[in-house]
Amino acid sequence: MSKIYEKLTSCLESVRKVSDFQPETALVLGSGLGDYADDIRIEAAVDYSQIEGFPRSTVAGHKGRFVFGYVREVPVVIMQGRVHYYEGYPMADVVLPVRLMGMLGAKKLILTNAAGAANYDYRPGDFMLIKDHIASSVPSPLIGQNIDELGVRFPDMSEVYSSRMRRIARAAAEELGITLREGVYMQLTGPAYETPAEVNMCRVLGADSLGMSTACEAMAARHMGMEICGISCITNLAAGMSVEPLDHREVQEMADRVSEQFKALVTEVICRI
Ligand code: HPA
Repeated sequence: MSKIYEKLTSCLESVRKVSDFQPETALVLGSGLGDYADDIRIEAAVDYSQIEGFPRSTVAGHKGRFVFGYVREVPVVIMQGRVHYYEGYPMADVVLPVRLMGMLGAKKLILTNAAGAANYDYRPGDFMLIKDHIASSVPSPLIGQNIDELGVRFPDMSEVYSSRMRRIARAAAEELGITLREGVYMQLTGPAYETPAEVNMCRVLGADSLGMSTACEAMAARHMGMEICGISCITNLAAGMSVEPLDHREVQEMADRVSEQFKALVTEVICRI
């Protein structure tokens, strides 16, 4: 058995000591959605610190816990606080929480994040449904001995983000009167924001939005057969596209400003998928 799978099974045991809740859908909260779990019917919560060997988010404003509960009637597990590659964890640890949610029984996964626009048509405050991603500038989370218990060595990635779920998300956004773009998300390592030349490179390569998370989580989840929906909150124009320098606080402020819309959209998506 691979070391990573051993760690996953021991983390699973730690969680199961606290709760036997059976989630259908897993949700990862990005910036702007941090308090989403406060509004749901909570059945149980497990702090990451209660799980031996679990990576802890070091980013200010990111709580670290799994919340189990119901969004309307849908049983969910929510990751309140994710781990980023730039925090210094190996990729296997970065994707461990998402894998664990799959092992807890969630077959569907909603990934959310804050992202910068590389596409000149996008505006801060827009939402973007992730159609596909470019993850080639970060190490693959699947490198190393394959975890046969989770998936195959050479998994297909031709539809990481479910077209079925995208259809549902588009319809939900339209009914809510929310503008939802659809595009390609590119994950970079961070923690520095990109240079203007790098932003140009990403755009030439086909990226519409840029961020420091999500694609690696989607790969690990797809490897284990989860059906995935990804939504970005566009918080800023990427470097060089406006005269303003980038500031993490402004990114957070924009995410907070549109958080009610973001929450409404995510709730509808959870209930309809
Ligand atoms: N680049 C990378 N990650 C980000 C950005 C950005 O402009 N905005 C929010 N996350």
